[in-house]
Amino acid sequence: MPSIVISGGQWGDEGKAKITDLLSNQADFIIRYQGGANAGHTVSTEAGLFKFHLIPSGILFEGKICIIGPGTVIEPSFLIKEIEDLKNKNINLNGLKISPLASVTMPWHIAIDKATDTVGSTGRGIGPTYTEKAKRSGVQIYDLLNRNYLENKLTKILPKQNQTLRQIHDLPEYKLEEVLAEYLNYGEILKPYIADTINDLHKGRKSGKNILFEGAQGTLLDITFGTYPYVTSSTPVSGGACVGSGMGPTSIDKALGVFKCFSTRVGDGPFPSELEEKSVEAVKLRQDGTQWAEFGTTTGRMRRVGWFDTVLARYAVKVNSLDYIAFTKIDTLDAFDEIFICVAYMHKGTGEIVQDLPYAAADYLRDFEPVFQSVEGWKENTHGVRDWDKLPEKAKNYINLLSQIIETPVAILSTGPKREDSIILANIF
Ligand code: GDP
Ligand code: IMO
Ligand code: MG
Repeated sequence: MPSIVISGGQWGDEGKAKITDLLSNQADFIIRYQGGANAGHTVSTEAGLFKFHLIPSGILFEGKICIIGPGTVIEPSFLIKEIEDLKNKNINLNGLKISPLASVTMPWHIAIDKATDTVGSTGRGIGPTYTEKAKRSGVQIYDLLNRNYLENKLTKILPKQNQTLRQIHDLPEYKLEEVLAEYLNYGEILKPYIADTINDLHKGRKSGKNILFEGAQGTLLDITFGTYPYVTSSTPVSGGACVGSGMGPTSIDKALGVFKCFSTRVGDGPFPSELEEKSVEAVKLRQDGTQWAEFGTTTGRMRRVGWFDTVLARYAVKVNSLDYIAFTKIDTLDAFDEIFICVAYMHKGTGEIVQDLPYAAADYLRDFEPVFQSVEGWKENTHGVRDWDKLPEKAKNYINLLSQIIETPVAILSTGPKREDSIILANIF
């Protein structure tokens, strides 16, 4: 009956959805605990390619309870579209449940996000929605089910918002009656899914059900632990699973961190092991000529790419208390003669070599340069290999070396986007 939290160890897009989907057939509950439609989670199965933004990646298995948790932010029209798209693909959504406590992204949050962004945000209104939540003036999902609640909140929020929109951003204002009608209508549409997710989860836990917590974004985008201020506005690290779900830390048994075998980042901010955008290696890492190339799932932006960074990974292991690692995309490295690993940082001023960082804030990270070690590439196919013993020796050595440097065992190695393209090295359930 374990509860397992799956979080991203890098800057997002590590393949969390692939791993969540893979483990979902053993789970009874799958809950997204933070973030919003800034996430783009890709799952590839025989039924096709699915791109989730808010709905947990476990939804493809019938009979699972899939919760959009209290710590998330929801833009209702976007969620409704995601629901409709899945229905059109004949996916059964009976197990979908939405927390009444989730925060609602209003149209002005998106307008303000786009008008004020300084970090290369996804433009989905995430920062402004979490800001409103922290200011204690946000709309929550339960408000959409009650005209009085919603009208009271909008009456307080809208005059101030309209003033800001008009005077500071030169953006159009919103009319209370129109917003009220639109959002009550969203409430009507989403009502069948809105449920008491906290009691459902606790009853599940008590009766021995398996629970998966699916993180969005990644450790280095965490509002506290990431490369601040180039971060998102929520808590992707494993601890976020508690505050974003309604289950305390004693109800979570294991933490699994997902890492690519190299590094990518979309948006701005420091990236110590980054390769020059047009370098041969970067092009090779980014664009292998296939559907799984490195372009953002949500915004279509080109992902910045670089080598695996063990300094940041060691940090991620700590701030998530990771028990296990899932490595993805080993197959992307198949064509390389030589693969580099960032094994330490050198302080640009003092020359000091470090393997452990106290924090990863942007200004601080910029004081260091990466120290690389190279390993020989395997130059053989690993794509779709499903058996550890069938991997090239050098590929096994690469994974073992990373695991050894970051002092964490590997539970899963992913060799392709499909569910079956996976090697299970430890049963974490
Ligand atoms: P997430 O946001 O962490 O869920 O990751 P994304 O879905 O945004 O990005 C990961 C991409 O890598 C997706 O296109 C996946 O289909 C793909 N992917 C996942 N695992 C593997 C793998 O082992 N090999 C390859 N080639 N692609 C993978
Ligand atoms: P998944 O769940 C990669 C990045 C944005 C930007 C920063 C802040 O698919 O891994 P935001 O819109 O959240 O205010 O943007 O965070 N970002 C992601 N990068 N994967 C994601 O999600 C991301 N969600 C946000 O590019 O740099
Ligand atoms: Mg993604």
